[in-house]
Amino acid sequence: MAQGDTELEARLEEQDEFEPSEEFVAQANVSDSDIYDEFEENWPVCWERAADLLDWDEEYDEVLDDSNPPFYEWFTGGELNACYNCVDRHVENGDKNRVAIKWEGEHGETRTYTYQDLYREVNEFAAALRDLGVEEDDVVTLYMPMVPELPIAMLACARIGAPHNVVFAGFSAEALATRMNAADSRFLVTCDGYYRRGDPLDHLDKTNEGLDSVDHGVDATVVVDRLGDDGFGHDLKGNQHDWDDLLDEQGGERVEPVERDAEDMLFLMYTSGTTGQPKGVKHTTGGYLSYATWTSHAVLDIEQEDTYWCSADIGWITGHSYIVYGPLALGSTTVMYEGTPDFPNRDRMWDIVEKYAVDIFYTAPTAIRAFMKWGSKYPASRDLSSLRLLGTVGEPINPRAWKWYYEHIGNEDCPVVDTWWQTETGGMMITTLPGVKNMKPGSAGPPLPGIDAQIVDTNGDEVKPGRAGYLTVNKPWPGMLRTLYNNDERYISEYWEEYSDTDSDDPDDWVYFPEDGAKVDEDDYITVLGRVDDVINVSGHRLGTMEIESAIVGVEGVAEAAVVGGNHEVKGEAVYAYVITEDGYEEGDDLRARIIEGVEDAIGPIARPEQVVFTPELPKTRSGKIMRRLLEDVANGAELGNTSTLRNPEIVGEIEAKVRAQS
Ligand code: WT7
Repeated sequence: MAQGDTELEARLEEQDEFEPSEEFVAQANVSDSDIYDEFEENWPVCWERAADLLDWDEEYDEVLDDSNPPFYEWFTGGELNACYNCVDRHVENGDKNRVAIKWEGEHGETRTYTYQDLYREVNEFAAALRDLGVEEDDVVTLYMPMVPELPIAMLACARIGAPHNVVFAGFSAEALATRMNAADSRFLVTCDGYYRRGDPLDHLDKTNEGLDSVDHGVDATVVVDRLGDDGFGHDLKGNQHDWDDLLDEQGGERVEPVERDAEDMLFLMYTSGTTGQPKGVKHTTGGYLSYATWTSHAVLDIEQEDTYWCSADIGWITGHSYIVYGPLALGSTTVMYEGTPDFPNRDRMWDIVEKYAVDIFYTAPTAIRAFMKWGSKYPASRDLSSLRLLGTVGEPINPRAWKWYYEHIGNEDCPVVDTWWQTETGGMMITTLPGVKNMKPGSAGPPLPGIDAQIVDTNGDEVKPGRAGYLTVNKPWPGMLRTLYNNDERYISEYWEEYSDTDSDDPDDWVYFPEDGAKVDEDDYITVLGRVDDVINVSGHRLGTMEIESAIVGVEGVAEAAVVGGNHEVKGEAVYAYVITEDGYEEGDDLRARIIEGVEDAIGPIARPEQVVFTPELPKTRSGKIMRRLLEDVANGAELGNTSTLRNPEIVGEIEAKVRAQS
């Protein structure tokens, strides 16, 4: 490293607060600090600002109906269409030739969709869906990787009022079936395969296996031909249709966007929770779209002229809100990349930033830690001067990674927004407004204007600055989930029961609990510490330990299993599985391989255990409860917590020795 670099690193290391540059502030979409007070004084009417970013077919009567908490309704009486807002209105406003989607495949092939192109394909696919029998309110499952047909299918669904249910392509056949069954979904859009690290991957085989386990039967499946000659030679079955054939048949067909009530469902998204059963998070047309658009405008600072790149997968909420809905509603250019960040080389991301002159880049801390590990020579070899703003999401970012990002990607010119939010919140909740607030590495920032977040103790009383507590949200917001699909009871018990007076119909008695720990400083900046439920965060992806445990227990030869998250340099957390074998089965590589396969089959490779540790017993309290804390300590090589309440304290040392021997 050059001498100058070392000095720079040393200076950055000491600095714990950063100001946005005057140049950034001067051009920012939001730069007036009064916005916080304005939202507070005029709440909830202030949220009209978000709704005003959209075109409504029917004006709403009321901003918020809070008469039946926690079943809040936003922009009631209003009608709109999400697809119209993301596509048609830009075509009508003279921007038909502006680029909507810039797609790049792993092999370097590119596709460019102007708003007019998007308009044509979305209309044709909407017509095709109708012909296949999809009616308003039918749930359409989209099991697709990062191909342009995914956002096209989402928008086509939105156009005809059919909620989509996107299932991450990396999820297993079983996970697909679980989600289709839970969502009563009879329609599926998928593809033959896609590329990963240069190799074609068979996706249709996995799809077909999943379809065999869909209980209620499936009316139609549409298959995108992504691999062409590299395909696996599958024949389409009777109710399976080729995407291109369907579009050819439509040839320029137009479909009127359906007027949807603001509270009509736009989509479902399944996410992991404490129990084994994934939760079907329901998002609505008016509130969600307003919120995704508003936060894209205020936090990501997206303007119509911008080329914006969020490197997430559309299979997660980040991609829904900040690859598809937010950026397209604002009429900007959104970049989509199919592959991995190190294919063919470790400068792939920076190659894309340089090539398309990306203005705004949004990624996850796990990616930043990998870039750091690879070294700064990769970004240094590319021209990244087009960048204006950087963002992160998905997990806490440590100050070192934050500063590396700020220096080596942003050249100390770009504000970094560390955005805390969840699948359930629909959009960002806690982060700095980049044109208004200073940044403090390691802290997400204050709650956004209009968001009322507090850190409380187990009694719900606010804790002092600096003390760890539980994050709560005390007022509703437009992007919030409305319920869990077909399960109002679980909606209340998962998110509200903990800190609310559930007998009350006064909204002030209702408090949303995101199940994160956090602390706050004197300036109201919140540092999120991580999940306090049995959910772990692997590379920014949320995994339920119960789901993984039940997959492992399903493997022949396994008697009992406990799964915890252990610290991991790049992934943030990694899956550690402690397993007791059944009598007559041998511990060893064969069983270990079957356990890993069992987890990949049930969930997908992202849930693959980093370590499988066989043990004759699990540490348990006298009442029989597994002491997960201790298992986490063991995984982290940390000093062991108190073992005195254990029935079998000696086992912890034994497990520790095994973990050390394996790593
Ligand atoms: C959980 C939500 C939001 C889209 C991606 C993940 C953690 C998220 C941050 C952040 C610290 C964060 C929380 C949260 N999380 N962003 N900036 N700092 N933690 O969505 O799968 O619903 O996971 O991710 O623990 O509860 P998700």
